[in-house]
Formats: sequence, C-alpha cells, structure tokens
Amino acid sequence: MKFFIDTASLTQIREAHALGVLDGVTTNPSLMAKEGISGDEQVLKHYVDICSIVDGDVSAEVISTDLNGMLAEGERLAALHPNITVKVPMTRDGVKAIKTFSGKGIKTNCTLVFSAGQALLAAKAGATYVSPFIGRLDDVSTDGIQLIEQIRTIYDNYGMTTQVLAASIRHPMHIIHCAEVGADVATCPLSAILALFDHPLTTIGLEKFLADHRKAQAAH
Ligand code: G3P
Repeated sequence: MKFFIDTASLTQIREAHALGVLDGVTTNPSLMAKEGISGDEQVLKHYVDICSIVDGDVSAEVISTDLNGMLAEGERLAALHPNITVKVPMTRDGVKAIKTFSGKGIKTNCTLVFSAGQALLAAKAGATYVSPFIGRLDDVSTDGIQLIEQIRTIYDNYGMTTQVLAASIRHPMHIIHCAEVGADVATCPLSAILALFDHPLTTIGLEKFLADHRKAQAAH
C-alpha cells in the first residue's frame, strides 16, 4: 500500500518525505487555505514546490464546478509537472472531465466519493485514483472501511485499474484497516503516519538493550 500525505504544509511534507516512506501527496482547497495559500500564482507555485520535494503523484484539486472550467483548470494544473494528478469532484461534470482527461493521458483523482456506485462511475470514466472519504463516513455512523472493501471487490471483479485511495483518514487504525482490505493508497495526516512508529515494548526493549550494553562496557 502506498502512503500519501494529506496536507499542503511544506514542513509536514518534508518531514514525511525524510522518513523514507512517502509515495505522494494529496491536497484540497481546505488544506491549501489552512496554509494561507491563495491567488492563482501562489497556488500554482505551491504545487510546483510540493512536486520538488516528493517524487510521486501530487493531487491538485480544481475549483471550477462546470465542465469547461474543470477542463481548462485541469490542463493548466497538469502542465505544471508530470506528477500532478488533477483532483476532480464526483459530480456529473466531474465524471465527464475525468473521461476527457483520461483520453489525454492526464492523471485524475476523483474526490468526495461516499458510495460504491460513485466509485464505479469514476472507474468507468478512467480515473487514475478514486478517493472514498472514510473518516467523514465514520463521522455519520457509516463504516468507511466497509466502503473500501466493497470498492476493492467491485474493481477486482472487473479488473478495473483505478487505484483505491483511502482519504479522510484520522488515526493509525484506519491505515491498518485500509491495508487489511486492500486499499492501493492511504492518504494520511502526518500524525497518523507517525503514530504507526510507536509501541511501548519497542521503547522499553531498546532502553534495556542499551542499558545491558552499557553494563557490559563498564564491566569490560
Ligand atoms: O483530502 C480529502 C480528505 O482527506 C479530507 O479529510 O479529515 O477533512 O475529512 P477530512
């Protein structure tokens, strides 16, 4: 399973990249706004900056909601860097845009997916990635992981090559469960990735190894 980081923070992207386990980045307009990135020029430069840190796919979301707007915006984003993946919302025009981008060899990520039917449409249109939002489903008492499992089954039934990119991940167990049910990618906040490192027995074990080594050295 690939690990993407779900942030527009260059500091966090650098930190995750330095861990050696980062395969890509996803952003969205809320995450860009959180970093204070606004205005066309600043937004485009920010995506280029992200691409210079990580050698993997970087999702850049369109703001337009109509087909022509999405197509123009997506072309402009895709021209920034070969790793840019145009993120398009799951709407009728969004699916049409994905179909057009797919015909031109432009990578896409279909976002705001909350049902298996939506994921099926995204794959039929040729999306590179589909992003089911598991945390937001859990928030409304619906099993997000079950949706990942359902999409995995459907895609495997028909050999659909769209990659299942689990989004809206909130904690490390989401990552583990995504891996168990066969998500292709998990896009995670840095905190969830870092939490995977921790186990008290690792900490205690390392302390004991080092203490024993110090004792042996002192006795030498
Ligand atoms: O990138 C989209 C998604 O990951 C949003 O997550 O936590 O706002 O539901 P969240």
